[in-house]
Amino acid sequence: MAQFTLPKNSKIVEGTKFTAEDDVKRKKTFKVYRWDPEGGETPRLDSYEIDLDKCGPMVLDALLHIKNDIDSTLTLRRSCREGICGSCAMNIDGTNTLACTKSIDEVKGDVKVTPLPHMKVVKDLVPDMKDLYAQYESIEPWMKTSSAPPDRERLQSSEDANKLNGDDGHGPAMCILCACCSTACPSYWWNSDRFLGPAILMQAWRWLTDSRDEAKGERLDQLDDSFRLYRCHTIMNCTKTCPKGLNPARSIAEIKKLLASRA
Ligand code: SF4
Ligand code: F3S
Ligand code: FES
Repeated sequence: MAQFTLPKNSKIVEGTKFTAEDDVKRKKTFKVYRWDPEGGETPRLDSYEIDLDKCGPMVLDALLHIKNDIDSTLTLRRSCREGICGSCAMNIDGTNTLACTKSIDEVKGDVKVTPLPHMKVVKDLVPDMKDLYAQYESIEPWMKTSSAPPDRERLQSSEDANKLNGDDGHGPAMCILCACCSTACPSYWWNSDRFLGPAILMQAWRWLTDSRDEAKGERLDQLDDSFRLYRCHTIMNCTKTCPKGLNPARSIAEIKKLLASRA
């Protein structure tokens, strides 16, 4: 049987333990991934026992309490703190989600926090989004028109607007590009250099379905590729994990249907 040797530094080791005072009544332990590319050390899981009465109810509150009051070296990304910007996406308790909308109470036992899987890590909980943003740029996510500009805005009926926003507010335009879905997709793990992944394909669908856009044929030509689109094998992790309740798998199916109908 073939034997593989894992490269040095590829296993996450146990890191520093920070314990709460003995008299703290409501304690919870957070095990947090730590890695500094400049330090040359093996990635580790530091363990922080925190006083729940000293922080808010969400996992992001706990991480900020750790950073502000226990260990200022912890690096993470966040902005809006209300599920809008997508910057606090990470893996919590085994699932990709937003730290600011994930309640601490939902996690039984210790809370394990690691960066989004299968992404390069900038530091600690911060993934490198450069490649994903380059893929986003590649679908040309802006309105393309060839007809003469009208005297006023290009209007849209409310039915057409609903195709973007969704009748229930869960349409493709509601995506916050957090990348939870793409980084939960096995096809994206193995082929992220060529497969666009669910987050970007959902945006591709958002422009294909926009009644004001006039570049549908050109957009479909770009997508009609065995890797860029057809590496989606309907695994559905994307839709299952989306913290905004969106359905990227359905958007991908719609693109495939559109391509099949023009063949
Ligand atoms: Fe995030 Fe959902 Fe958009 Fe994927 S579809 S990027 S999980 S908001
Ligand atoms: Fe991946 Fe979602 Fe397709 S998990 S394989 S993009 S249905
Ligand atoms: Fe903006 Fe969490 S901080 S989505």
